[in-house]
Amino acid sequence: MSLPSSVPAAPAAAPGRFISFEGIDGAGKSSHIAAAADWLRARGHEVVLTREPGGTPLAEQLRSLVLEAPMDPLTETLLVFAARRDHLQTLIEPALARGAWVLSDRFTDATFAYQGGGRGFDLAVLAQLETWVQHGRQPDLTVWFDLPPATAAERRAAVRAPDRFEAQDLAFFERVRAGYAARAQAAPQRFACIDSSQPREAVWQDILRVLEQRAW
Ligand code: TYD
Repeated sequence: MSLPSSVPAAPAAAPGRFISFEGIDGAGKSSHIAAAADWLRARGHEVVLTREPGGTPLAEQLRSLVLEAPMDPLTETLLVFAARRDHLQTLIEPALARGAWVLSDRFTDATFAYQGGGRGFDLAVLAQLETWVQHGRQPDLTVWFDLPPATAAERRAAVRAPDRFEAQDLAFFERVRAGYAARAQAAPQRFACIDSSQPREAVWQDILRVLEQRAW
């Protein structure tokens, strides 16, 4: 039975938003992602915090392999996209569909930066995999924490033992940074570049400005 036309339809759920956070290792993303989640929750949004590779039980297993097991660049690329496929299907898309805000510590720009820039893997193949796996899904906003690789290396050395990526030399991270810059240049509306060499509070103020500017 169809409803009479005078009965208003139930309001559609407010659309969810998808924000990714990117940058070379040691850029200082983590504490700001948590602060952004608190800020959005205080405004009444449901926030789902997640990360890549990872975010689901299967993708977290793939993450462990990618970060620890030696492998060739194609295997590495296929594993990060396999993890992303599961992450999108079982966590990100359902969360966005119910109106949640998804904050992901890294997404596909990291593949273009690390596998494409850092490892020198074929960007056309990455673009093909991106199309197959994401069906057009992209973050609504990407916050890119940018800083010189030498500064990031100093910060990392002070806090933790390196994984397979963090053990790479400065030249690798220069290529990763250039990979991010190329992605930002190709999608300037989506990217917000934050100068992550500033003191922490100044970085946070820049992030707040970005969130507020977008009327979120
Ligand atoms: P990271 O997000 O920095 O986590 P943690 O803070 O726990 O070290 O580590 C994830 C690593 O995975 C990082 O070095 C970048 C790498 N990575 C890729 O190489 N390709 C990808 O597509 C993604 C998402 C991450």
